[in-house]
Amino acid sequence: MKAIVINRHGGPEVLEPADLPVPQPQPGQVLVRIAAAAVNPADGKWRSGMFKDFAPVGFPHILGYDIAGEVVGGKGFAPGDRVFGMLDPFLKGGYAEQVAVAADHLALVPDALDLPTAAAIPTAGLTGLQMVERGLNLQAGQRVLLTGALGSVGRFALFAAKERGADVIAAVRPAHVKQVRALGADDVIVLGEEDWTGAPFDHVIDTVGGAAVGALCRHLKAGGRVLTAATTPIPTDELSVAPEFFAVQPDGADAARLAAAVATGRIAVPIARILPLDQATEAHRLVEAGGLNGKIILTT
Ligand SMILES: NC(=O)c1ccc[n+]([C@@H]2O[C@H](COP(=O)([O-])OP(=O)(O)OC[C@H]3O[C@@H](n4cnc5c(N)ncnc54)[C@H](OP(=O)(O)O)[C@@H]3O)[C@@H](O)[C@H]2O)c1
Repeated sequence: MKAIVINRHGGPEVLEPADLPVPQPQPGQVLVRIAAAAVNPADGKWRSGMFKDFAPVGFPHILGYDIAGEVVGGKGFAPGDRVFGMLDPFLKGGYAEQVAVAADHLALVPDALDLPTAAAIPTAGLTGLQMVERGLNLQAGQRVLLTGALGSVGRFALFAAKERGADVIAAVRPAHVKQVRALGADDVIVLGEEDWTGAPFDHVIDTVGGAAVGALCRHLKAGGRVLTAATTPIPTDELSVAPEFFAVQPDGADAARLAAAVATGRIAVPIARILPLDQATEAHRLVEAGGLNGKIILTT
């Protein structure tokens, strides 16, 4: 099968085409013919070698956490079923024509969604949802600071926090202020430019990291927690609590809930560009440049 692989760590140019054997599904796995794969910021981090000491990969290595496509075979789904999901983040395999996936990481794509939209959901959606539900178990009336609230993870965290009835203070770029308010943020501040002057936060959900987030974390209530998905550390000098890193887990049932919310128009998943799989290098350059306001999708 056709795949885009890395044979070494480096810049976007190390992504290259390869012809590899079709994966053999193990018990409990489903073989999926991939139609669309999302590019996540983590893909570039794995590509560059950021995680190589903690989680070395063997070469050739196929990147890509998020896929949508059609079932070829396997237990739990019928051949031809339209499915999507997040792959095991240590194994990946999305930048390819086929992948073997644990059946419980997959969900059916609702009829109302096309496959590129479904592929845009899993990692970002699961991270936002799980930070709110599993990470913090956010409660109605709690006040949470959410950084990067108009990003891919941030939008889903905002959605999940509002579903729980929390008050969300979004900390975003100046250009995102209006849009994030329209999406339901109760208050908005410009990250790095404005300080928070209201009542202290019960918790912080961070998708950005860095000193500006650390400065806002000073407004955390005693006993409050700082949950971060970002790899840029939050300086801890002035903080009374240590930020906790949150790692997303693939989960077909959670993915199905998110897809239902997208299919019924309760949350939008903007797609910035759809590119053919063999333009993965360009896709990585675009994601690393930032400012996309939506996912990049690779199609086979
Ligand atoms: N730990 C986990 O399990 C996990 C899972 C998923 C993602 N992540 C990580 O979470 C982070 C966010 O992922 P994502 O997919 O949501 O990325 P994204 O779609 O690029 O969203 C990031 C958002 O934060 C904004 N932003 C970045 N730097 C900022 C700053 N200094 N001030 C204000 N806003 C800023 C971005 O604006 P611009 O686009 O204008 O830069 C964008 O709106 C990434 O580091 C990713 O690797 C971790």
